[in-house]
Amino acid sequence: MSNHLNRRQFLGRTMASGAVLTAGLKAAAQAETSAEPVVVGVVGMNRGKALALDFLQAPGCRIKYVCDVDQNRLAEGKDAIGKASGHVPEAVTDFRRILDDPEVEAMAFALPIHWHAPAAILACKAGKHVYVEKPCCHNPREGELLVEAARKYNRVVQMGAQRRSSAVIMEGMTKLLEGAIGRTYYARGWYAALRGTMGRGEDGTPPEHLDYDLWQGPAPRRPYRSNVIHYNWHWVWRYGTGEAGNNGTHMFDLARWGLGVEYPKRVTAAGGRYRYDDDQETPDTEMYSYDFDGGKTFTWEGLSCNQPGPEGMFVGITFYGENGSLIVGHDRYLLRDANGKEMENKAGDVGGVDHVINFFNAIRSENPSSLNCEIETGYKSALLAHLGNIAHRTGHALRCGEKGHILDDAEAQTLWQRDYEPGWEPTV
Ligand SMILES: NC(=O)c1ccc[n+]([C@@H]2O[C@H](COP(=O)([O-])OP(=O)(O)OC[C@H]3O[C@@H](n4cnc5c(N)ncnc54)[C@H](O)[C@@H]3O)[C@@H](O)[C@H]2O)c1
Repeated sequence: MSNHLNRRQFLGRTMASGAVLTAGLKAAAQAETSAEPVVVGVVGMNRGKALALDFLQAPGCRIKYVCDVDQNRLAEGKDAIGKASGHVPEAVTDFRRILDDPEVEAMAFALPIHWHAPAAILACKAGKHVYVEKPCCHNPREGELLVEAARKYNRVVQMGAQRRSSAVIMEGMTKLLEGAIGRTYYARGWYAALRGTMGRGEDGTPPEHLDYDLWQGPAPRRPYRSNVIHYNWHWVWRYGTGEAGNNGTHMFDLARWGLGVEYPKRVTAAGGRYRYDDDQETPDTEMYSYDFDGGKTFTWEGLSCNQPGPEGMFVGITFYGENGSLIVGHDRYLLRDANGKEMENKAGDVGGVDHVINFFNAIRSENPSSLNCEIETGYKSALLAHLGNIAHRTGHALRCGEKGHILDDAEAQTLWQRDYEPGWEPTV
């Protein structure tokens, strides 16, 4: 645990035992605690660059490091964050260097998904708090390990499901949970885009500016392929989780929140890679369905190569209840009565900066349970993507038991975890 954190903890504890402090000392301690910036390292300079700019909008943040295994992206990230903050961060290719710096209190990871849980676990072990992008894990076992690490090392770990911190979406969800549409029993979530083909790649030599070995990290080694890096790894099972894990995780999270459910008891999948004939392994057209105890069902429709989605929205979820429906879109909610008449329609901010502020507040108050998407919540939502993908990949209808574990299906159970490059297996 860092000296920096010890100082924050010391101040917090001494403030709590007011008897030992004069009023003046208490005020000084309080001022230092609130003024003291959270020192952060941000890893992965695509989404991570945008995330870093959100971090800088939250009061009391200093980005000491940026990190990427691609030198071009690293230079761009360093430049953008230096300009935005007036403080040029150190640029490194191996995030383990940042873990060694005791001044760094928190890490943010926006990486290919096969890296999320292994990196976040290493950070917890090094005493850092973690903001990890969605989905927080490449497979269910890694999610379980990450939750275990957060508990064991008592770290504040937030998943990047920023709608959990969006004022307008919180308002809509509160209305839903307070009964605006009566008993809610069905939700349909979707994402619709016009993605192109990833084509057919060729094995070859990685570009000089990329540390391909470190890019692969925990994934078993394979030759560099020309059409996977960047971004298209989403469509390759070895690294990604398809559209379900990519954009779906946001909707799975809203579904669980609005329906008030945790683990499904039955999962089915339909769909395939229909639009293009290329290297993509994950479906571009997917319908996953989830039955929960208490008579509640959620369906997910991922359309990677078609628009528009339902309601003319590219992303959204409709909750259906006895007395109407509530739609949550990208940054809005819409309430309708049972006849479809619009009762409310409100737009706002999607919640990016507020989610970061929530993360920093939880660090300052040393209270992980004050997080809006604490890692156990995040994992349960990511798990829905994984279970849908497992149902798709096996072609089986899954029955799930305690904590979503798959029952009586040896083939599906093999996909609960993955193989690792030797030496890279995550341990808590
Ligand atoms: N919450 C959101 O709204 C939101 C939005 C976009 C992306 N995301 C998530 O962010 C993650 C990243 O997405 P992206 O679009 O930036 O992907 P990307 O492939 O474009 O970028 C990933 C970056 O990570 C770098 N990288 C890979 N391994 C690394 C390592 N070991 N150390 C340092 N850098 C490494 C890559 O070189 C690349 O620059 C994904 O999980 C995605 O789902 C979340």
